[in-house]
Amino acid sequence: MDTTLQPILEASGLAKSFTLHNIDGRTVSALHDISFAVQPGEHVTLAGSSGAGKSTLLRVLYRTYRVSTGSIKFHLRSGRVVDIAQLTDVEILALRGREIGYVSQFLAAQPRRSVLDLVSRAGVSRGMSRTDAREMAALSLRRLNITEALWDVHTAVLSGGEKQRVNIAAGLISPPRLLLLDEPVSALDPENRARAIDLIADLADAGVAVLAVFHDLDAISRLATRVIRMAHGRIIDDGPAAEVLPFLQPSDVQP
Ligand SMILES: Nc1ncnc2c1ncn2[C@@H]1O[C@H](COP(=O)(O)OP(=O)(O)OP(=O)(O)O)[C@@H](O)[C@H]1O
Ligand SMILES: [Mg+2]
Repeated sequence: MDTTLQPILEASGLAKSFTLHNIDGRTVSALHDISFAVQPGEHVTLAGSSGAGKSTLLRVLYRTYRVSTGSIKFHLRSGRVVDIAQLTDVEILALRGREIGYVSQFLAAQPRRSVLDLVSRAGVSRGMSRTDAREMAALSLRRLNITEALWDVHTAVLSGGEKQRVNIAAGLISPPRLLLLDEPVSALDPENRARAIDLIADLADAGVAVLAVFHDLDAISRLATRVIRMAHGRIIDDGPAAEVLPFLQPSDVQP
């Protein structure tokens, strides 16, 4: 873990509203005045009831959505600092993968690709050699309980839980410096969930900064070093996990 306490991400004054073009142009305000910083090796869990703005915040940081106002300073591996809110689309694409990763609860559609191929390619796209990527992919798939019999089948035929584990293997291979996770283990049974959580827990030791949403108090208790609680698009609590967890309401962690 980096002990210099130089943040990797500094979000300041973020706001996001959506214009509903097909409903008389009405605007929905999803995030207001969001400010926080994340250090390397921190595992920050976003909690809050449905509609609080957790997924919107992750998408804004990955720049799937553009913020309406605010800045998102990101400290690159090279030491340069960029504002994700201001970068061009081409610059954002260059950041994705090696610097910032995003794993949702759904496997990105690549139906004609085999399981091993999909996971290894994710490693190659982050700079691994093909041999190393295949070795690492095999290791993660084994840890996630995906049997070798499935490695050369197309991902389209997998069950929901298998797809989710393949998605985690691809998202965590040669991990980026900041990883955004949106309910990545939602479809897993307790045993496979525990395996996936073990893999996610290793990220902190590797110095990866993680910002994650889990609808599972056990996962949060095991992983989070810090909890940010959101309500109605605002941060209402932000502190060490041990201090915030006792105050979470059931609705903060249930889907
Ligand atoms: N693309 C969009 N267009 C319009 N409104 C949106 C869009 N994305 C999100 N919203 C709105 O923003 C608010 C926050 O939604 P968000 O998905 O971030 O909540 P969440 O905290 O992730 O909830 P959940 O726990 O149910 O996943 C909601 O009111 C939602 O309807
Ligand atoms: Mg969500």
